[in-house]
Amino acid sequence: MPTKTIQNLKMNFQIKTIADYNQAYKQSVDQPEAFWADIADNFYWRKKWDKVLNWDFSSPNIKWYEGAKLNITENCLDRHLQDKGNQPAIIWEPNDPEEHHRVLTYTQLHQQVCLFANALKNNGAKKGDRICIYMPMVPELAIAVLACARIGAIHSVVFGGFSAQSIADRINDATCNLVITADGGFRGAKDIPLKNVMDDALVQCPSVKKVIVLTRTRSPISMIKGRDVWWEDEIKKAETLGMHSHQAEEMDAEDELFILYTSGSTGKPKGVVHTCAGYMVYAAYSFQNVFQYQAGDTYFCTADIGWITGHSYIVYGPLAMGATTLMFEGVPTYPDAGRFWDIVDKYKVNVLYTAPTAIRSLMQSGLDFVKDKDLSSLKTLGSVGEPINEEAWNWYNENIGKRNCPIVDTWWQTETGGILISPLAGITPTKPCFATLPLPGIQPILVDEKGEEILGNGVSGNLCIKFPWPGMLRTTYGDHERCRINYFATYPNMYFTGDGCMRDEDGNYRITGRVDDVINVSGHRIGTAEVENAINMFTDVVESAVVGYPHAIKGQGIYAYVILNKQAIDANLTRQDITMTVSRIIGAIAKPDKIQFVTGLPKTRSGKIMRRILRKIAEGETENLGDTSTLLDPSVVEAIKNERV
Ligand code: WTA
Repeated sequence: MPTKTIQNLKMNFQIKTIADYNQAYKQSVDQPEAFWADIADNFYWRKKWDKVLNWDFSSPNIKWYEGAKLNITENCLDRHLQDKGNQPAIIWEPNDPEEHHRVLTYTQLHQQVCLFANALKNNGAKKGDRICIYMPMVPELAIAVLACARIGAIHSVVFGGFSAQSIADRINDATCNLVITADGGFRGAKDIPLKNVMDDALVQCPSVKKVIVLTRTRSPISMIKGRDVWWEDEIKKAETLGMHSHQAEEMDAEDELFILYTSGSTGKPKGVVHTCAGYMVYAAYSFQNVFQYQAGDTYFCTADIGWITGHSYIVYGPLAMGATTLMFEGVPTYPDAGRFWDIVDKYKVNVLYTAPTAIRSLMQSGLDFVKDKDLSSLKTLGSVGEPINEEAWNWYNENIGKRNCPIVDTWWQTETGGILISPLAGITPTKPCFATLPLPGIQPILVDEKGEEILGNGVSGNLCIKFPWPGMLRTTYGDHERCRINYFATYPNMYFTGDGCMRDEDGNYRITGRVDDVINVSGHRIGTAEVENAINMFTDVVESAVVGYPHAIKGQGIYAYVILNKQAIDANLTRQDITMTVSRIIGAIAKPDKIQFVTGLPKTRSGKIMRRILRKIAEGETENLGDTSTLLDPSVVEAIKNERV
C-alpha cells in the first residue's frame, strides 16, 4: 500500500470565518464540480475520479466521483496510523458507570477491524453481501460496521429497539446472508435479549446462513450448530491463523456502502442506500465544519449507531477526520438524570451532540443533576432529530453551555447522509429554533403545493433541495421506482424532503416539521401507516387511524383512533393488548401513547380518512376543525370529540 500518500494528505477544508463560509458557499453554487473536487482532494483514493458529478433527478441517477477507487476505512483508519496511532479513536462509556470504560486508539481500532474483517471472510462474507447488524452500543458495533465496509460488504444496521418482525422484514428486503448480533445489551435498568429476538426473526429469514454472536450480557441464549458462532472464537481463530492485517477491498466510488431503513408515509420502511465516496466526503466535510472540531478535542454524540446520526457522526465523519469519538451505551437518565453531565465531566468533552427529546427530559429532572458537574470543557453544543423548542434551546444554552457555547441546530435526514442546514459553530450567528443557513453545496428551495418556487424572505413552504450533494441517497434498496416517487416525483427536478419550512427576513431557515404522514417521536421517524398496520393486526380491530400530537418530552406522541368489532370488556386491558401487539410488530418505539376507541372515523365521501380533523382533536382543539363540509357523516366527529382521551 502506498503508505506515504495515505498519510501525507492536506485536510484543509475547515471554514474559519463567515467570510470563508460565504466564499465557499458561492463557489459551491457557481462551480460545484471544482468545489467538491477540492474537498475530495483531502481524502485517500486508490484512484481518483474521472468525473466529479453526473446527475439527473428525473430517474433519479446521481453519481459522484465516478471512476474513483477507494475504501472508506482506509480514510477512517489507515491514514491516521502514523500521526495519530496512539490517539484515542473511540472512547466507550458503558451503561453501568461502575463498569470499566474502554479506549481504543487508532492503532487498536485498526487492528480490531482488520481481525474482524478476516473473521467475516472466514465465515464466507464477501464484497457485495448484505450483512445485518443488530447490536448494543459497544465498540464492537463500530468495529462490525467498519469491518463490513473494509471487505466491501453492505451493512444494514437495525436499531436494538426493533422487534423480531421488523428485523425479519429488513433482513428479507435486503436478502442478508450474515447477521452480527450479541447475546444481549444493557440499556438503563434493562437487559435487552438481542439474540432471542434475533432467533425469532431468523425463523422467517432463509437467506441467513451465519450468525456471529458477541458476548455482552452473557445471558443464556441458543446457539445453533453450523449457523451460530461466537465473535470471540472467530477473533481467536483469525489470530491463530496470523490474520492480523487486512488489505481493504478496493471499492468503486458508487458501490453501495450501507442500507439504513427509515419510515415513510407508506406501511413499509424503505432501505435508504448510501454509496462509498460521496457519503464519505460529505460526512467528513459536514462534521468538520459544523462542529469546528479541533485536533485533540473529545467529541460526544449521544445517538445510537442504529440511526443515521450514529453512522455519520459517531463512526464515519469523526473517524474520517481523525477525531476522538465517545460512544455511550446507556440512556440519559440512568442511573440518574446527571449521566450526560458526568460523562462530560469525566472525559472533558468538548463537543456534545444530542437530541431535543433528551434535553427536555433532563430539563424536567431539574438543575440538581447539573449543578456540581464541571462542564467547562464544553465548546460546542449540537441538536438533531426534531425541531428544538425555544424553552429547551434556552435551557441548553444557559445551563449546559453557560451562554458560552454556540448551539448548532442541525437539520438533516437519513436520506441526506449528513447535515444540510445548520450553523457552523462559532461562525454562523445562531437563533433559537432556527437551523439557520445551508452548508456549502446545499441549495434549498421553498415551494408551494403546486411546486412553484416561493421567492424572497419571510415566507414558508415545503422544503426541497434543487441541486445534488455528495451525501444524498442514491436509491431505495431493491426498488428504485419507490425512491423516485418518494423523493423526486412530488416536484420535478428537486429532492423533496417531506418537511415544512420557513425562511425569515434574514434568510435563516426554520424547519417546522413533517408535511407527510410521518410522526417524529423522540427524534425517531415513524410512519402512521406502519403503526396502523400493526394495530390492525390485533384480533378485534376493524380499522384504525394514527396521528401525532404534541408531547412535552417526546416532541410528538402517537395518538391512535381504533374501531373494534365488539365493545371491549375491559377497555384498559384491550389498550394494553393493542400496545403489546404494536411492540411485537414494530418495536417499543412505536407504541401508541394514547388509544381512543371510536365507532367511526371521519371520512370524505370518497372514503379517505380526514386526518387533519383527527390531528386537531388529538391536539385538544375541538372548536376550529377547519373545513368539514366534505365529511360523509359529521356526527362521527361529535362522538370522537366527546370521548377524547
Ligand atoms: C426531522 C435524523 C427540525 C425532520 C438526522 C427530518 C429536524 C427528520 C431536525 C429526519 C432539526 C431532523 N430541526 N427537524 N434540526 N433534524 N429533523 O431520518 O422532520 O431520523 O425530516 O434523520 O427529522 O429524521 P431522520
